[in-house]
Amino acid sequence: MSDSRPVGIFDSGLGGVSVLREIRARLPDEALLYCADSGHAPYGEKPQALIAARSLELCGFLVEQGAKALVIACNTATAAAATQIRARWPDLPVIGMEPAVKPATEATRHGVVGVLATTGTLESARFAGLLDQFGHGVTVLTRPGAGLVEAVERGELDSPRTLALLHEYLDAMIAEGADVIVLGCTHYVFLRPQVEAIVGPGVSVIDTGAAVARQLQRKLDVAGLRAAPGVAAGARFWTSGNPQRVGATLAMLLPPARAVEVLPPSACLAPA
Ligand code: DGL
Repeated sequence: MSDSRPVGIFDSGLGGVSVLREIRARLPDEALLYCADSGHAPYGEKPQALIAARSLELCGFLVEQGAKALVIACNTATAAAATQIRARWPDLPVIGMEPAVKPATEATRHGVVGVLATTGTLESARFAGLLDQFGHGVTVLTRPGAGLVEAVERGELDSPRTLALLHEYLDAMIAEGADVIVLGCTHYVFLRPQVEAIVGPGVSVIDTGAAVARQLQRKLDVAGLRAAPGVAAGARFWTSGNPQRVGATLAMLLPPARAVEVLPPSACLAPA
């Protein structure tokens, strides 16, 4: 039994492409649909209700396009909207993501980990639950990565401004003894080389993109939804923002250049 319908993926912008990349590597036969909510990015400082409304809108669009499963390629949207998305589409596999606090607390040698994520993620009940579950006996330092999502959306991975922000956020955590840094936002994964250069070889840098791809594979297997092997599957991209600008950054983050379509107006509106 095989199912050639696509997997739907979304994020506030292009950060989730770091998750799409992992999914393509693990599940090359699956057709992928990707929505970048660039017209409403960043999500990190926005009210949870707005993020939830936008997430439901984008998932509705992906389901209309025939998605057989939904991947919330965004820690912030998972915290704000995973429960509502699962309630709205109870029959679809829905894969969310959260900062890798558990693996980080297992990996630390000195008992100090640093989590870089958005304010929305760090202030969420979901993150508080993670700390309750796994944060005992370990010091978990948190820092909102203000400005980093915008930098990645502009394709400014190496600019002096981006490097200065990374130094500001990371130097303090390293000075406090962190030997594991969690990239708790899918955008930050594109800054991994810069982060690694700043923190040095004695510090592990971890994220959850590969774990999300594994979880998607498991859920598709259990539901009998995997595509037939050997079929070359493509990816389609949409944005609620400027398709030229989003396309230019996408070409840089995931070469070669590819078309970015504009979401229908109804899927672009800010919720009332
Ligand atoms: N990439 C997202 C995340 O993983 C959201 C970033 C944002 O829009 O603030 O949290």
